Amino acid sequence: MDVGRHPRVNLLTFSEIEDISGYIGNFQVTVRKKVRFVDEAECNACAECEKVCPMVVPDEFQLGFSSRKAIYMPFPQAVPSVYILNESDCLGHNPIACGKCADVCEKDCIDFDMKDEIIEFEVGAVIVATGMEVYDPTELDEYGYTRYENVITSMELERLISAGGPTEGHFIRPTDQNTPKRIAFIQCVGSRTLNGKGNPYCSTICCMNTIKNSLLLKDHNPDIDIKVFYMDIRAYGKGFEDLYQRSKQAGVQYIRGIPGEAYENPTTKNISLTVEDTITGSLEEHEFDLVVLALGVIPRHDTEFIRKNLSLSKTEDGFLMESHPKLRPVDAPTGGVFFAGCVESPKDIKESVTQAGAAAARAQILLNAGKISVEAITSECLTDFCTGCGVCVKVCPFNAITGGDAKLKIPVEMIEAACKGCGTCAAECNFDAILMRHFEDAQIIAQIDAVLDENPMEKIIVFACNWCSYAGADLAGLSRLQYPLSQRVIRTMCSGRVDSKFILHAFENGAPIVLVSGCHFADCHYIDANRWTQKRVDKLWDKLEKLGIRPERLQLEWISAAEGQKWVKTMNELEEMRIQVTQEEIEHTIKMLKEDRDRAERKSKAKKSLTDLIKKEPVKAIA
Ligand code: FES
Repeated sequence: MDVGRHPRVNLLTFSEIEDISGYIGNFQVTVRKKVRFVDEAECNACAECEKVCPMVVPDEFQLGFSSRKAIYMPFPQAVPSVYILNESDCLGHNPIACGKCADVCEKDCIDFDMKDEIIEFEVGAVIVATGMEVYDPTELDEYGYTRYENVITSMELERLISAGGPTEGHFIRPTDQNTPKRIAFIQCVGSRTLNGKGNPYCSTICCMNTIKNSLLLKDHNPDIDIKVFYMDIRAYGKGFEDLYQRSKQAGVQYIRGIPGEAYENPTTKNISLTVEDTITGSLEEHEFDLVVLALGVIPRHDTEFIRKNLSLSKTEDGFLMESHPKLRPVDAPTGGVFFAGCVESPKDIKESVTQAGAAAARAQILLNAGKISVEAITSECLTDFCTGCGVCVKVCPFNAITGGDAKLKIPVEMIEAACKGCGTCAAECNFDAILMRHFEDAQIIAQIDAVLDENPMEKIIVFACNWCSYAGADLAGLSRLQYPLSQRVIRTMCSGRVDSKFILHAFENGAPIVLVSGCHFADCHYIDANRWTQKRVDKLWDKLEKLGIRPERLQLEWISAAEGQKWVKTMNELEEMRIQVTQEEIEHTIKMLKEDRDRAERKSKAKKSLTDLIKKEPVKAIA
């Protein structure tokens, strides 16, 4: 409500983002403000329209426990406090089939000719706070959620005990509207599962939500029998353990074990649960009037849309990934984008509010500064060489490259403010038209040459990305872990920078083994730049095989900053491989690669002379 009233906040409700483009300081946003058919400025929520509306449909806000009309207030404290006419529930407004709501509205604020409104504006920063959804337990057939009415979800329980709920806070069970005396909570429904149903992560809020609800129920009815079936209770926040102990003291029973299956008694509609208490080791059967499934949380269905539009990265769980979990927890990898709440990971209200404050402050710092410092490590287009082919535009994870037209020979344009310096564009450019500052081709080739200058057969070239693999090597060193001395590390900001020509150059100069290492997928600091690394290495493996060179000599390994041990294991394995590479094999490799390079050069020269000829004498060229 504060936000709704704030003179400097423009709140767009009942609206959806259609498109976001641009970069830090210059985002263009297109929003579809959906039609309400009710004039927001005029409606005073008198509810006369609702009274006369003949259409009755299930109320989504009350999770179907009660009904609403086709014209309705979305929920009691809705901001703005204005009615909405749901087009698909209405008997028909074009042509008008009923029109009773409009007839009864004294302020004439119902307008059936209203249309969706498209609003476009520019912003300097974006805070993504799109929240989460709860897990749908339908697939967990063992709990009979769709079969037994007295098996409900934690969200449904919230509605049933809420003063603003369908029963005005009178707690009843769905089948007979009696107050349940025995209630079970089953924890971790849809969370911490590895059997393909649900998600492997902890949803963090369900334990405390159950504890809170158990106390609420006990406050209303101290004689109620509540049993909570759990794997372990995660009461990790301030005051949470205290609340947990209070619920135990109030008589809530905690049984460590997750029930296998639920059965309904067809006569009483009571639900039986069989469970192994893993503390006592006993197999127990319990009967309840009502069973509550404590649902985990999942990313919102439209997270992918936001991710694509803002060039963001997501974790394996589907939540959006922050720039750095400890040092930049509210920043997205894309400049000018910040996160608040569960869009980034499951979290409770306190954490969400804290993160929202931090995100607002981060955005404010950016906007107040009025200018930004760009990374020193950014790409530059060498326009004389650029053919405008657009490969770099396609691979840039941050949409920092635009334009380019191969037919018209228009070079691409770099948006330096958006470039983060992964170097993928430079690695993918076939025309050496991109200069990656501080990690130029010549600088990296010079490092390879220096390493292989003496006794190349004894060296392993390792390309390590700055953020993960290089840090993994660092950890191995700091932990005093022992591994062979043959590896020589060449650091790049991202594995995406490792150009095929660096790898081939290393082999052509006698390297027995080359390793490309980077962050695990979804951990890459440049969104998904390492997926291009994978594709590039895949192509190189094919090429090496065709040339009769053992592809195993080129290795690709994802090593995180915490995986010092994995770094050591990889180095030991590479050393074993290196020993097996013979002098003849290296000579054969050098010969094959040289021939291949000569072939490519001849082909490119022939192509160039044909192009020149076509320009000068097209008829002769065709002949
Ligand atoms: Fe490590 Fe991209 S930053 S692979």
